[in-house]
Amino acid sequence: MSTTTLLPADATLLSAVWALEKEIGHTPLHHITGLFRHPRVQIYAKKEWMQLSGSVKARAGYAIIRRAIEKGALTPGKTLLDATSGNTGIAYAHIAKRLNIPVALCLPENASRERKEILESLGVRLILTSRFEGTDGAQQVARALAEADPDAYFYADQYKNENNWKAHYYGTAPEIIEALPDVTHFVAGLGTTGTFVGTGRRLRELQPSIRLISLQPDLPMHGLEGWKHLETAIVPEIYDPSVADENEEVSTEEAHRLIVEAWHKEGLLLSPSSAANLAGAIRVANRLDEGIVVTVLPDNADKYSDITKKLLV
Ligand SMILES: Cc1ncc(COP(=O)(O)O)c(C=O)c1O
Repeated sequence: MSTTTLLPADATLLSAVWALEKEIGHTPLHHITGLFRHPRVQIYAKKEWMQLSGSVKARAGYAIIRRAIEKGALTPGKTLLDATSGNTGIAYAHIAKRLNIPVALCLPENASRERKEILESLGVRLILTSRFEGTDGAQQVARALAEADPDAYFYADQYKNENNWKAHYYGTAPEIIEALPDVTHFVAGLGTTGTFVGTGRRLRELQPSIRLISLQPDLPMHGLEGWKHLETAIVPEIYDPSVADENEEVSTEEAHRLIVEAWHKEGLLLSPSSAANLAGAIRVANRLDEGIVVTVLPDNADKYSDITKKLLV
């Protein structure tokens, strides 16, 4: 590993980023008792919105920024650049605000108004890209900008950045094992794939008999924001298909049904991808005679008011 001589300004940034560590992760587990009940099978879901910036992406965003500062790749004056319209952007904005780092994000022009407003209100510079190229096109624009002006930008590249999955390897998985040493199954959806790959890798080392089940949307066009249909999308470079023992598909309709049920039976107000994770966990649990199934709830319903209103009001 190379060592970088830190400038005094970098040392300030370094202590500021280290100080943020306590606000990342350490999320509580919700024991599912209303939607699923079995004498020998239990489901637990990690409430990932209960940390800085309100989503699971605080983990990856923080690990990416921290490592970049430690390496000297993100120095004062540089702008943090990435392609995302979702939780990663919101996580970057919150973390970078505390460190006085400007953030620029590439996102397709047809990203929801609600999403653009959230990011703009957090002080992010939005670079709108073609609606026809989707998130893959946004990635290409971000890469081109960073290559054209490497002194101005630190390109975080969450789809390729190893610190994305490492955040879960060193954070999410040990937290699960500490709380539930006898976990038998881990179930999670694939977006950048950081959550599943990082958590799965470490859980496999700590609990070799564990079964790891990845989830994907059943169709290329879906409403499970944050998830990717890997057969038809650009596959993230950090994805490792050997981590999963099984892969299951979840439909948007199934997730929407679970949003309603989780509210009424668990008191959880979930986002579509959180409901989809829970749907996958319940499906796995229904096949078991005994075991402990763990999943993550990446965020709650706060940013999805249109969907929640339609389903619950
Ligand atoms: C709401 C939501 N669910 C699921 C995911 C997938 O997580 P990962 O990117 O770690 O695969 C994301 C990622 O952005 C997300 O924002």
